[in-house]
Amino acid sequence: MPRREAPPIRIALAGAGTVGGALLDLLDRERHALLARLGVRFEVVSVLVRDAARPRSARLDRARLTDDVDAFLRAEAEVVVEAIGGTTVAGAIARATLLRGRRLVTANKALLRAEGPALASLVRAHEHLGAALDLEAAVGGGVPVVRVLRDSLAGHGLTAVRGVLNGTTNYILSQMERGHEFHAALAEAQRAGFAEADPSRDLDGTDASDKLAVLSWLAFGTDPRTLRIRTQGLAPDIGARVAAARLDGRVIRLVAQAERDPDGHVRASVAPVALDPTHPLARVQDEENVIVVESTSAGAITLHGRGAGGDATASALLADILRSLPHPARSLAVA
Ligand SMILES: NC(=O)c1ccc[n+]([C@@H]2O[C@H](COP(=O)([O-])OP(=O)(O)OC[C@H]3O[C@@H](n4cnc5c(N)ncnc54)[C@H](OP(=O)(O)O)[C@@H]3O)[C@@H](O)[C@H]2O)c1
Repeated sequence: MPRREAPPIRIALAGAGTVGGALLDLLDRERHALLARLGVRFEVVSVLVRDAARPRSARLDRARLTDDVDAFLRAEAEVVVEAIGGTTVAGAIARATLLRGRRLVTANKALLRAEGPALASLVRAHEHLGAALDLEAAVGGGVPVVRVLRDSLAGHGLTAVRGVLNGTTNYILSQMERGHEFHAALAEAQRAGFAEADPSRDLDGTDASDKLAVLSWLAFGTDPRTLRIRTQGLAPDIGARVAAARLDGRVIRLVAQAERDPDGHVRASVAPVALDPTHPLARVQDEENVIVVESTSAGAITLHGRGAGGDATASALLADILRSLPHPARSLAVA
């Protein structure tokens, strides 16, 4: 007898830019492999954009495209993926999704910093209806640090989280070490899709600070809205600092770190730091991210990988979509 196919998992996707577009490509590319490996099929039932009339790539089914948030929220879907960024519309989508007892997968660290604990409360209140929140794509791109903090190290006495969390600034610093000029390196990062739509959030350290607030929330339970993070980005003298560090045999990295002292007080900062090239935080190149999680029992665990760009972020979204499935695929996925 032919095997009965499970119904497709329906996805409502908010955003079809760098990240949302890469997720559509990934789902398309992996369609056969996902069916063969996990017995799972996906159907993207609605795609929310700002301007549905704008010309789009042929891979986007125009019949599924909408710029009407209410119509998007009415779409019947098992999973809502939020990849639009910002906090206003994204916040409304997140709250409505969880209030309806649906699963939300987001790449949006700014939203999580502003509303993470409130969204987590909504999940707790509506868990019995199926509400869930997954956020792997919000920090570290393709590096699965959220899972490590939420699952693998849950219950450990964590003492510090340190990392290079912003792919754009790391790309710029790596290019400057190779002799490129700041603006050329930034333009290349934007062309490659590593830079945020507004690169000022990357350059002034806000993006890394948002990510650190989310990591600190997951690691130490600190409220991401109120955690004070001393934040310094790449100042105009960064070229001189990179050159001086090079003469000294060192490299500059934008280091984000949160340390918890024995009294439970958390000190957090984001700043460019000169490091010995053998330091674990110094070894990241271009858009890579690295995160070191320190705990009393497990010591230091280092995670290193592609931290920005559509493909890396889409792979984290897909991992979260699979994780959130009320589907036999989940047990197969870990078999
Ligand atoms: N880029 C990365 O490497 C990266 C990595 C990790 C996480 N993220 C996060 O992923 C999210 C998306 O980033 P992105 O780089 O993909 O942004 P993007 O390229 O600017 O794409 C944003 C998409 O969302 C749509 N959109 C924006 N505002 C909207 C609104 N108010 N209503 C309806 N649709 C709206 C846009 O519609 P139009 O197409 O009509 O303009 C576009 O399709 C952000 O939270 C970002 O922080 C990005």
